[in-house]
Amino acid sequence: MNVTLEISRFNPEVDREPYFQEFRVTVEERQTVLDALLDAWRQEPGLSFRRSCRSAICGSCAVTINGIPRLACQTLIREAAGSNGRITVEPLSHFRQLKDLVVDLEPFFGSLKAVVPWLVNRSDHSGRMEPEVARKLEELASCILCGVCDAALSDQAGVRPAAFVKGLRLARDPRDELGAARLRLMQVPPEILKLFIKDLPEVCPKKVTIPKN
Ligand code: SF4
Ligand code: FES
Repeated sequence: MNVTLEISRFNPEVDREPYFQEFRVTVEERQTVLDALLDAWRQEPGLSFRRSCRSAICGSCAVTINGIPRLACQTLIREAAGSNGRITVEPLSHFRQLKDLVVDLEPFFGSLKAVVPWLVNRSDHSGRMEPEVARKLEELASCILCGVCDAALSDQAGVRPAAFVKGLRLARDPRDELGAARLRLMQVPPEILKLFIKDLPEVCPKKVTIPKN
């Protein structure tokens, strides 16, 4: 299948503004947008984007595809190309474009640091958990830190859903000393929390769901 990729290009050393460049690639319908990007990169090795696992595990290939933040390695050509065979690929919105599809992840990881993203062991806990508690934690722990939800749902107040998910996962862990103190660091207003509960499963490539209570 012949596909035209319209890719946002930007090199801060020579460009004043981002612009779109077209690449014509030949890929199978069952291949992914990442495969198409790799084909474009073979044509022009200066094209920059992140990727690693190609299996929706590492979270590094998150980009905006046809206006929607998604994982390039999880988006099939037949879903994205449509009848005109064109796919636009841009960097994640709400992130600063560093070069082509590569964005500045410092604010993303900064927001994670703010919730103390590791377990602080309780000295008075055995470390054992009921299976039901462990199962509920798994729903939040499947986050791969791709940043798609931050691009799709970050509000004007700057609350970042990925950091909230990380903080909530640890706050709900019975072995954790800090518990709810992590969530107080985030100060998520109730109306924003409702938005996260409603919209996160729709936008998240791993279908992470925030429990209602
Ligand atoms: S919650 Fe989902 S969309 Fe957000 S960072 Fe984690 S995996 Fe990505
Ligand atoms: S390359 Fe790892 S999630 Fe896409």
